[in-house]
Amino acid sequence: MTGRTGVLAGIGAWLPPDLVTNADLADRLDTSDEWIRRRTGIRQRHAVPAGMAASDLAVEACSRALKSAEVSQVDAVVLTTSTPDRPLPATAPAVAARLGLGTVPAFDVSAVCSGFLYGLAVASGLVAAGTADRVLLVATEVYSSIVDPLDRSTAVIFGDGAAAAVLRAGSADEPGALGPVVLGSDGEFGDLIRIPAGGSRQRVPLEPGDEYFRMAGSEVFRHAVNRMSEACRQAVTAAGWQLADVERLAAHQANARILGALGDELGLPPGHVLSNIDTVGNTGSASVPLLLTQAAADGRVEPGQRVLLTAFGGGLAWGATTLTWPAVPALGPSEHPSRRD
Ligand code: UT7
Repeated sequence: MTGRTGVLAGIGAWLPPDLVTNADLADRLDTSDEWIRRRTGIRQRHAVPAGMAASDLAVEACSRALKSAEVSQVDAVVLTTSTPDRPLPATAPAVAARLGLGTVPAFDVSAVCSGFLYGLAVASGLVAAGTADRVLLVATEVYSSIVDPLDRSTAVIFGDGAAAAVLRAGSADEPGALGPVVLGSDGEFGDLIRIPAGGSRQRVPLEPGDEYFRMAGSEVFRHAVNRMSEACRQAVTAAGWQLADVERLAAHQANARILGALGDELGLPPGHVLSNIDTVGNTGSASVPLLLTQAAADGRVEPGQRVLLTAFGGGLAWGATTLTWPAVPALGPSEHPSRRD
């Protein structure tokens, strides 16, 4: 394929400082560290302090991604979240303004946990169309603001965090070039993951708790493995790869058992399946780029390795794509990018 392709030029992530351990949750809910670790693989998750919103996390992650890419300007900002600062306006313009990016186009993409994969498709589409030479894509989530603190089936799973990537125009044969992005959705199952109130269907809660996130976990589990494995096969084929070429799988960190089942289904050795769910939980659309940032920073993914990305979540919506990991510094949560003002 000829023409302009989106190429990963920088990546960074940020986690809010507060930690919530399984023991903390067991103190206030009918659950246990043993149940949470055995059924999900999670030991702890991060949470924002009072007053911190999605844009605050996004600015931190974006600063690291811009520093990683060694750029101070981009042509567009695409933000993915299920927890925008407000229902309206979008969160991306505020992030762009706070980063000093001027009047660039900035908008949000809503695809729940698959947001980063959808965002990659949008960002690389902007590049391929010639609309932008450089796009800043950020996934930011404050699940602690929508999870019902009394619902043990979700409160133990989700964590807060953000991660960002810079895509630049390049060619398909370079390291970092995104392969074709495979996307799908099935709204027949839209009720499996939802917040009942707050939209035009139901403005305010009718039942107590309608303002909170709800998930039919075990049904979602089944769909997750099927949809991600199917999308992965399609993305690998579209890229001209074989599954045996895949050296690292960066899949949405929904549940350690899902990661195991997905790796088995795709015939990947366990060592090829990246994971950080034990320390961060499920961070929604931030999950895949946060995982990639941390894995690249600590050498679990190295330049030249063939990486398969996939995500699945509410909508239902899913996606997958491929890239050969580029030689870019990954700036993790503890890195301190110099101020750019
Ligand atoms: O990010 C979007 C994509 N998300 C996913 O893909 C999530 C997929 N689903 C999951 O990860 C799992 O379904 C969960 C972790 C949410 C739940 O695990 P499960 O093994 O599917 O459990 P379950 O929902 O079938 O519940 C089994 C039992 C139930 O008790 P009974 O009815 O058997 O007595 C639950 O009430 O476990 C109970 N349970 C808990 N027990 C202790 C549910 N949550 C907890 C808990 N602690 N935190």
